[in-house]
Amino acid sequence: MGRETKDVALEETLDPEDWEAMRRLGHEMLDDMLTYLQNIRSEPSGSPPQKVIKEICFPLPQEGEGEEKVYEVFQQNILPYTMSLTKPRFWGVVAGTGTPYGMLAEMLRAGMNGAQEALFAEAHVHKQVIKWIKEMLGFPEEAGGVLVSGGSEANFTGLAVARNAKADVDMKAKGTQGQNRRMTLYCGDETHHCLERSVELLGLGNEALRWIPTDDDCRIRLDALEKAIEDDRRQNNHPFCIIGCAGTVNSGAFDDLRGLADLAKKEDMWFHVDGAFGAWVKISKTHRHLADGMEEADSLAVDLHKWMCMPYGIGCTLVKDRRAHYSTFVYGHEARYLKSAFDLVEDRMINPHSLALPLSRNFTSLKAYMLLRAYGRNKYGNLIQQNIDQTNYLAELIRKEPEMEITAPVVSNIVCFRYTPRKLAEEKLEKLNRLIYGDLNQRSFMMVSDTTIKGRYMLRACNVNHRSRRQDFHFLVDEVKRTGEKLVSQVNP
Ligand SMILES: Cc1ncc(COP(=O)(O)O)c(C=O)c1O
Repeated sequence: MGRETKDVALEETLDPEDWEAMRRLGHEMLDDMLTYLQNIRSEPSGSPPQKVIKEICFPLPQEGEGEEKVYEVFQQNILPYTMSLTKPRFWGVVAGTGTPYGMLAEMLRAGMNGAQEALFAEAHVHKQVIKWIKEMLGFPEEAGGVLVSGGSEANFTGLAVARNAKADVDMKAKGTQGQNRRMTLYCGDETHHCLERSVELLGLGNEALRWIPTDDDCRIRLDALEKAIEDDRRQNNHPFCIIGCAGTVNSGAFDDLRGLADLAKKEDMWFHVDGAFGAWVKISKTHRHLADGMEEADSLAVDLHKWMCMPYGIGCTLVKDRRAHYSTFVYGHEARYLKSAFDLVEDRMINPHSLALPLSRNFTSLKAYMLLRAYGRNKYGNLIQQNIDQTNYLAELIRKEPEMEITAPVVSNIVCFRYTPRKLAEEKLEKLNRLIYGDLNQRSFMMVSDTTIKGRYMLRACNVNHRSRRQDFHFLVDEVKRTGEKLVSQVNP
């Protein structure tokens, strides 16, 4: 063997030694996963026992165990013990359920190892997805936007632009330390906690976020909001942003977005809307009016991995003032090693690298593009409508039960309720419903979640599930009743 050939033989790669074996393994994985999704109703799920955890957690082997072996570990010790956010009776938190075609699109994306969404076809795909999202949500065409990892990052991105656009000083150069006046922002007390985290990470301090009381319908009280802004102005603070909710996480309530937009305009403040899941009522037939006024927002945060059922890891921030968006995220110091490549980008203000935190991007837009194009607007609109109709159906089933009650207005896709037997005292009701929650979740994790609204504990079913069928809601009501009857003696001996 010559010296050159010997050296080549020593060179490492992560490509398979045997492509045919990899092909067989790949086909097997694909078949297994499609079968899993096809049978998802009866697939087991639940947290792993100690024995299984031991199989998962141990020191990294010095020598690899091989692709087939590790796939076996996935099949035997991981997949059966996952939360499985794909099940038809999963109505906890706000859990998108994914789709088989979404899974395949993710495989293609990974096969390409991401791609940067700034140049070539990827740039057009990203641009087109943003355009479609604007169209579906009725957001003005001139707005810009960027795909991000989900609702939290989408809100963070919107608030970052708001902060920089409305600051008294050049925020990029001086930071919040350069401010003379305290910047304050406002949201209803039903707003998602990720907004508070954004405020903290943006260096504004969570004391700057004024939690405004909501009314009996869980909507921000405009009178209280106006007063809070006025109080802050009197104290020489700088009210700069109003946050509205298009779909609160606890009960699915919608703020009076038009009223908030008008107030923001009058007060010369930024108007940001968190529409993580609720914004999609815009493509329903009967409930689009709930989001009236959303189009007035300066920035809007939405998710595609919740009610749009795309594989996790996709949200979107839309911003009307494209320049403000761009100047918030564009690098102050030019990256010399990127200059020539970025110079090729046709329109710098739609380059996603300059509109959000990550530099390396993973071609998130591909799955959105393929799914939206494969199923079209009507299919998604029908699914949103179906979930709203099913939610009303569930609410009706609960209303018919003498020993159950609805505990918050049913507005969109969430029903809050309790089991309320024999007029138990409040304290005992809470205890009993906590027991019901624990018992249900032990048997069927995240069938429902629990929450507290205006100090009252309750159960909560949030329906963004394209696999649920009407009989599943009968099952839920029956299970709650059965579990409640079984446990009531524990709180009322
Ligand atoms: C209204 C609302 N906003 C923001 C978020 C955070 O989104 P993500 O979980 O995609 O980060 C959620 C999550 O449930 C939500 O319901």
